[in-house]
Amino acid sequence: MATRWGICSAGKISHDFTVALNTLPAEEHQVVAVAARKLEDAQEFAKKHSIPQAYGSYEELARDPKIDVVYVGNIHAFHLKTCLLFLNAKKHVLCEKPLAMNSKEVKEILDSAKRNQVFLMEAVWSRFFPAYAEIRNLLACEEIGKVKMVRSEFGIAVLHNPRLVQKELGGGALLSIGMYCLQLVCMVYNGERPESIQATGVCLETGVDETVIVTLKYSEKKMAVCTFSSSMQLPNEAIIVGTKGTIQIPVRMWCPTSLVVNGKETQYPLPEPSLPLNFPNSTGMRYEAEEVRKCLLAGLKESPVMSHSDSLLLVELQDEIRRQLGVVYSQDC
Ligand SMILES: NC(=O)c1ccc[n+]([C@@H]2O[C@H](COP(=O)([O-])OP(=O)(O)OC[C@H]3O[C@@H](n4cnc5c(N)ncnc54)[C@H](OP(=O)(O)O)[C@@H]3O)[C@@H](O)[C@H]2O)c1
Repeated sequence: MATRWGICSAGKISHDFTVALNTLPAEEHQVVAVAARKLEDAQEFAKKHSIPQAYGSYEELARDPKIDVVYVGNIHAFHLKTCLLFLNAKKHVLCEKPLAMNSKEVKEILDSAKRNQVFLMEAVWSRFFPAYAEIRNLLACEEIGKVKMVRSEFGIAVLHNPRLVQKELGGGALLSIGMYCLQLVCMVYNGERPESIQATGVCLETGVDETVIVTLKYSEKKMAVCTFSSSMQLPNEAIIVGTKGTIQIPVRMWCPTSLVVNGKETQYPLPEPSLPLNFPNSTGMRYEAEEVRKCLLAGLKESPVMSHSDSLLLVELQDEIRRQLGVVYSQDC
């Protein structure tokens, strides 16, 4: 039987996710309904994607008995409230990254998922790309020996987008962009907590972070450096350096279509989208959707690849980096 998806919000990433779902077999994934704050937005989205049902409120989607799992694609300043609505309605949830604004909010969401005995995953789509799966395989068999250094960068000029700038919309480079660098480091070091973190950076006049460099020190002299920016284009590559070799993730380290292992490149092409996308390589969101279905069929409440403890570690690092940078949201108070 197909996994029946509900799409919450009719914004840019919801569009791309729905296009990605359409690259998967219809007998495995069906979009049953979409909800937006305004009915006209939901109706327009439904028409574009041939979705049978459109709702003008998230509450109606939560009450729809035909939905197995909700994709939460609204902006992260509202993820807490939105996730709790669906989890309390006993819907499984795949929530866009970042899962919430801070660790207090993330804990509330994780507790609710446990209490309601439903599946929940933060949509860290990078981890489900074939190139990332290959990285995990290579690390597990020590193809590059013991990892000593991870360097990762993500910078794009996106200050024209109010969502990245305004504090009340959850602005800041860290939560939207930098988290991709951090999640890679956390994955490579297998969820280990760093011994120390040092963050330095510059902020916008709105009080959110713009360009940041974070250094992390781990046990056994392992290190990592993350560089991210919402104001400038960076090379956007990552490198994992081990005692016996290196793994390079070429440009767009967060959604890679190739991998270079000890100088040898392998391609991982993506399917073509049926409609124009808002963000690069978004058909790669199909892999996280496949993971959700796999977990649901196995009766799991969390994914072993992006687990609840992975989300908690990630947000705790984000909290510490923001503390050092002096970035405070109203949700922190
Ligand atoms: N995985 C990725 O590659 C990726 C890429 C981009 C973004 N994201 C994540 O996806 C989320 C949405 O990003 P986006 O670029 O799609 O954003 P967006 O198009 O600007 O907004 C998405 C939706 O959020 C709701 N929204 C926007 N402004 C709001 C406000 N002031 N008050 C209440 N709700 C508001 C709206 O929902 P309604 O339609 O219901 O009105 C809107 O359609 C963010 O958390 C972001 O971090 C992920």
